[in-house]
Amino acid sequence: MLPNLFMRASLTMRSIMNISCADAIGDIIEELQADRSRLMDVALAVQHRFGHISKDSVKAISALLGIHPVEIEDMVSFYAFLDQEPRGRNRIRLSNTPISLMKGAMDVACAFEEVLDLKLGETSSDFEFTLEWTSDIGMADQEPAALINDMILTGLTPSDVPGIIVSLRRLKDKDDLPPFPPKAAHAALIPKAIVHHSLVQSGPLLSGRLDPAAGIKAALNMPPEKVIEEMTASKLRGRGGAGFPTGMKWRLTRKSEGEEHYVLCNADEGEPGTFKDRMLLAEFPDLVFDGMTIAGYALGSRQGIIYLRGEYACLWEPLQAALQIRREQGLLGSNICGDAGFDFDIRIQLGAGAYICGEESALIESLEGKRGAPRDRPPFPTERGYLQEPSAVDNVETYACAARIMERGAAWFASFGTKQSAGTKLMCVSGDCARPGVYEVPFGITLNELLDLCGAPADTAYVQMSGPSGQAVAPKDFGRRIAYEDLSTGGSTMIFGPQRDVLDVALQFAKFFVDESCGWCTPCRVGTTLLKQGMEKIVDGRASLADISATEALANTVARMSRCGLGQTAPNPILTTMRNFPEIYEARLAREKFTSLTALDDALREAIEVQGREPVEV
Ligand SMILES: Cc1cc2nc3c(=O)[nH]c(=O)nc-3n(C[C@H](O)[C@H](O)[C@H](O)COP(=O)(O)O)c2cc1C
Ligand code: SF4
Repeated sequence: MLPNLFMRASLTMRSIMNISCADAIGDIIEELQADRSRLMDVALAVQHRFGHISKDSVKAISALLGIHPVEIEDMVSFYAFLDQEPRGRNRIRLSNTPISLMKGAMDVACAFEEVLDLKLGETSSDFEFTLEWTSDIGMADQEPAALINDMILTGLTPSDVPGIIVSLRRLKDKDDLPPFPPKAAHAALIPKAIVHHSLVQSGPLLSGRLDPAAGIKAALNMPPEKVIEEMTASKLRGRGGAGFPTGMKWRLTRKSEGEEHYVLCNADEGEPGTFKDRMLLAEFPDLVFDGMTIAGYALGSRQGIIYLRGEYACLWEPLQAALQIRREQGLLGSNICGDAGFDFDIRIQLGAGAYICGEESALIESLEGKRGAPRDRPPFPTERGYLQEPSAVDNVETYACAARIMERGAAWFASFGTKQSAGTKLMCVSGDCARPGVYEVPFGITLNELLDLCGAPADTAYVQMSGPSGQAVAPKDFGRRIAYEDLSTGGSTMIFGPQRDVLDVALQFAKFFVDESCGWCTPCRVGTTLLKQGMEKIVDGRASLADISATEALANTVARMSRCGLGQTAPNPILTTMRNFPEIYEARLAREKFTSLTALDDALREAIEVQGREPVEV
């Protein structure tokens, strides 16, 4: 009898749980008014509600949204912030970039391990804590930093750790965690849960009071085509890295036929060392919203979407509040600024921890609730983007520039910078310097001038420009100009003093690309792992000259054969350090020559003598 009773009881419990799980998911879907394309929001909400996305949750989502369970599991397994198995209620993710490591992240990690009696990568038996490394969280100017649930903690030291854990345990007693949508209120209860202002130097883009309506009104006073002409005349180029002319992108999107046109803002900002978009969204959200609204008018779009990286979930609430104020001011919604027929609104899509989702076609896939795998192109997003409709994907800073251009004029904007690089650039400075942060500088200044501005030491050994996907710049090139025609950059500027190990940093970046490859194509999936192994051998001093040549050849193959920008740029840290610092590679060559057969015979004879035993013939 007993087993039957037990079985019936557990079955009943299971069905109750299933019902409550399905009910809760039903509520989530209803609240979000979600359809298939909002699978990411549903998955994030389920993750926050239950701590993971179980098989039962998958079944419930599948039944309610009409998506095959395999498709849901496929999507969930792709993202670092979505789990299929239970993890700790408090998820402690420590940033392990070269910058955070050189600022003491390892000591902070050891302190967490000690206080929690956990190893990195483990979850406590009571499922209260999971401790793990994560890649860049957009805090390079405030490292060591951590992401705990949705809160960002900065400037951590080992002595902060006990207080943080005590506070997190207290939050549990209040049953306040986990929060979704992210609640900024929790941050006030945790030591060091603070993001400091990052803007150190402003220029024409960020100085002066912004009348939120000025740029929009100026745009509305001209036909949409003229707005695009203004963008072209301003010579604005995309600030996300590639420098594509914005006017041309908007023109291509406008002229593509579709039932809808979409304005997409790329706020994925996953390139290690970059944090300008976080700063803009935190401190100048209206400038970005203005730019998106102007784009909406120019493209004939009714919908803008900001793809906000999961690491910036703490910005969710303030951004939603800022959007609501704009709706109340008539700057979003119907008949914007009294212009009959111009309807436009903006929603925010939170990401879930995948660097590749910064690549525009992967971003669109993710927006549609799928794995963030890049699409084959053509067709380009301007033709067939979000939901197969024409879409302009632009960087946060690009939209901020567009707003100022409409407010102050194309000629005003083009008067700054160089011939091929108009305007100013937001540079994110981190590493070995006195004043890390965001600097607005005119295009054309030299790297040396930027290093002076931020108080970098005179003996700076090298600068990693534009993040791991950029290049390692040696002191002989510090006189180069920051501009698309010379040192092209998305903004990340990591400074390394003479005490840093160039090769070890290149290895860290190689590991980053292994973790972030989406795995779709072999050159990148396998190649990044082989490159990491090659660099490990080099850093350990076990590599011969032939190993270094083989690593270089492989790096060139990965760059040439990979399907998208991630794989094509992943070998850059290795190739540019090999090019600029050959003497460091040479000095790290294996000192011991290959052990000859005679040496092996000698070693064998010695072993026989010591052990007094002859080898057994087999
Ligand atoms: C792996 C990878 C990651 C990227 N990450 C970002 C990003 O975080 N933010 C961004 O604006 N562009 C990123 N890009 C570039 C985008 O694909 C796209 O070019 C950009 O959003 C276009 O905007 P823009 O014209 O305003 O620069 C990335 C590209 C690749 C290949
Ligand atoms: S290059 Fe890398 S990230 Fe891009 S599609 Fe191939 S595997 Fe994915």
